[in-house]
Amino acid sequence: MTGIKKTAILILILWIYALQILAQSKAIKSGPMLGPVAMREAKIWLQTEKPAKVKIGWKESAGSMWQYREQNTEDAAFNIATFTLAMLEPGKSYEYEILINGIKQKFDYPLQFNTQPLWHWRTDPPDFRFVAGSCFYINDEAYDRPGKPYGGEYEILKHIHNEKADFMVWLGDNTYLREADFDSRSGIWYRQSHTRALPELQPVLASMPHYAIWDDHDYGPNDSDWTYPLKNHTLEAFRAFWPNDAYGAGHRGHYQRICVGRLSVFHAR
Ligand SMILES: [Fe+2]
Repeated sequence: MTGIKKTAILILILWIYALQILAQSKAIKSGPMLGPVAMREAKIWLQTEKPAKVKIGWKESAGSMWQYREQNTEDAAFNIATFTLAMLEPGKSYEYEILINGIKQKFDYPLQFNTQPLWHWRTDPPDFRFVAGSCFYINDEAYDRPGKPYGGEYEILKHIHNEKADFMVWLGDNTYLREADFDSRSGIWYRQSHTRALPELQPVLASMPHYAIWDDHDYGPNDSDWTYPLKNHTLEAFRAFWPNDAYGAGHRGHYQRICVGRLSVFHAR
């Protein structure tokens, strides 16, 4: 093989490698986020930058049998995929991986979770710690009110991540819809997507299960009530962005019961 041919092949290999890096860096907009994790199921949520084939693989950390599921994300559903990993075993550690259009995605933190233990009638209930948070305003200058931004100091997310809690409860105002957001379906989805994609948030989303209820700023304008005309769209967005097990009774309120150890958290709005 001539030197020129070798150089051409090397450039081609580097070019393919660079394309793969580029495809990987732009593939996921936000997530993966852990939703509810029970004894036998775990929900995993993510949003892709554009329509894509999303594949998830998981296995018990101590085992070797990988299982895979696939979903296609699409513009009409804002490129969100939520997977329910079923038939898991209680009290086990699992790891998972994400492939977008066949390319395995890399993360700076582990993708893993622990199913809830079956302690009933056997041992004392396990100890646990959880985080509660709300009023999550993420700055977005072009559409914020002029002047000093309302959000900021995102380093709190680093502290939350370092707590290594067992789950997080979002108490509402998990995003803040503004004038450019709450008068259209695409505005609502834009704001939800922008908030969820904050880089500092991503390790927190993957590190523990998340449960959410909403408040006025997720639902519509400040202090909005049942007269807000786009409430169907904000409910649709809330359900799409928060893979809860239950959503109460629609617009009459969101409530759910989270059972961990001996504690039942009644989470309502
Ligand atoms: Fe509020």
